[in-house]
Amino acid sequence: MLVRIPVKQLRIGMYIHEFCGSWYDHPFWRKAFKLDNPEDLRNVLSTGIKEVWIDTDKGLDVEGGKTEETVAAEIDDTLARADASRHVAPQLDIAREAARAVSICNQSKQAVSSMFKEARMGQALNASDALPVVEEITSSVMRNPGALISLARLKNKDDYTYMHSVAVCALMVSLARQLGLNNEQIHEAGLAGLMHDIGKTLSPPDILNKPGKLTDAEFKVMKNHPVDGNKILLGSNGITSDVALFVCLHHHEKVDGSGYPDGLTNEQISLYAKMGAVCDVYDAITSNRPYKNGWEPAESIRKMAEWSHGHFDQRIFEAFVRSIGIYPIGSMVKLSSERLGVVIGQTEQSLLTPVVKVFFSIKSNARIPPEIVDLSKPFCKDRIVSHEDPAEWDIRDIQELWSDVSAAPW
Ligand SMILES: [Fe+2]
Ligand SMILES: [Fe+2]
Repeated sequence: MLVRIPVKQLRIGMYIHEFCGSWYDHPFWRKAFKLDNPEDLRNVLSTGIKEVWIDTDKGLDVEGGKTEETVAAEIDDTLARADASRHVAPQLDIAREAARAVSICNQSKQAVSSMFKEARMGQALNASDALPVVEEITSSVMRNPGALISLARLKNKDDYTYMHSVAVCALMVSLARQLGLNNEQIHEAGLAGLMHDIGKTLSPPDILNKPGKLTDAEFKVMKNHPVDGNKILLGSNGITSDVALFVCLHHHEKVDGSGYPDGLTNEQISLYAKMGAVCDVYDAITSNRPYKNGWEPAESIRKMAEWSHGHFDQRIFEAFVRSIGIYPIGSMVKLSSERLGVVIGQTEQSLLTPVVKVFFSIKSNARIPPEIVDLSKPFCKDRIVSHEDPAEWDIRDIQELWSDVSAAPW
């Protein structure tokens, strides 16, 4: 049986199934393992991770652990809070925006890549070079947040850092809008998202591009990037506010004080840096890396809800969930009608009733002609049973399915 326990209850002889925290946050991440080495135990305790899942069929048990059912109910509660009293801007015409978003992604990636190259060569950065990129991304997100955000999640190993910057920019814009910030603040948030990892230009390339997980020592070197980035921005031209500086320096801080570089706690971290922390983690854990496949968007939202206490500012995390959905665009879901579909839009009624493009019958184990189902309509009796991993169903065209919605009723 799987149970979740506080990390301080870990003992030699327990079987660690999973850490409750993002895997990119700790260097010794690996698949499940039996804890039989005091050094591993010390390492786990030193990471700042607060809880772990243990498998009591494969190792020692301890009293007071939380079962999967209890944790699932807690996650549902957190997400229900996010769903309450919500405002979601209508998300229309995803097909047209998806087509535009492809070219915006490509242009932005090129622009970020040349900015990063200049910074790597020690040239002073011109923030004005980034402005057209932020403008384009902002307009796309304003028209339809799901399109660019879902596309920017798809990365290959060569463009990871650049696309991650584009994705975090788009997520920041969407979150800033959800939080009711004004246009200037939305723009600042986007620029900060684009620049948040600029310090990685000073990280040794062999560590930055290492195809496997990092050693302790390498991880320590990578932890310099917030301070390095802050320095680069301080020496740049055209950064007119502190927003990007704060996001750069503090996007790895956690509200319980266990983050880096300064171990700040909740009230010491600026609003924008807290926003950066949520957007950064979401994009990192949903992206494929050479050593680990990213989690599906809906699964990632649930994981983040599970760890959110202590890691994120709750109000900001809930606004984030409202901004991209409990089932973000591109999520594959199983419906009560025994069909599979892909989420193509959010609705105003509830984050639990998005618009879904149904394309597969589980009963007949076969593709069916695509049908658009708005789960929020009163006459619709279908509902989401679970989110699903397309790979497990051998569905390889999920991307095409959500981005081509020419049959949509709007
Ligand atoms: Fe970072
Ligand atoms: Fe990042």
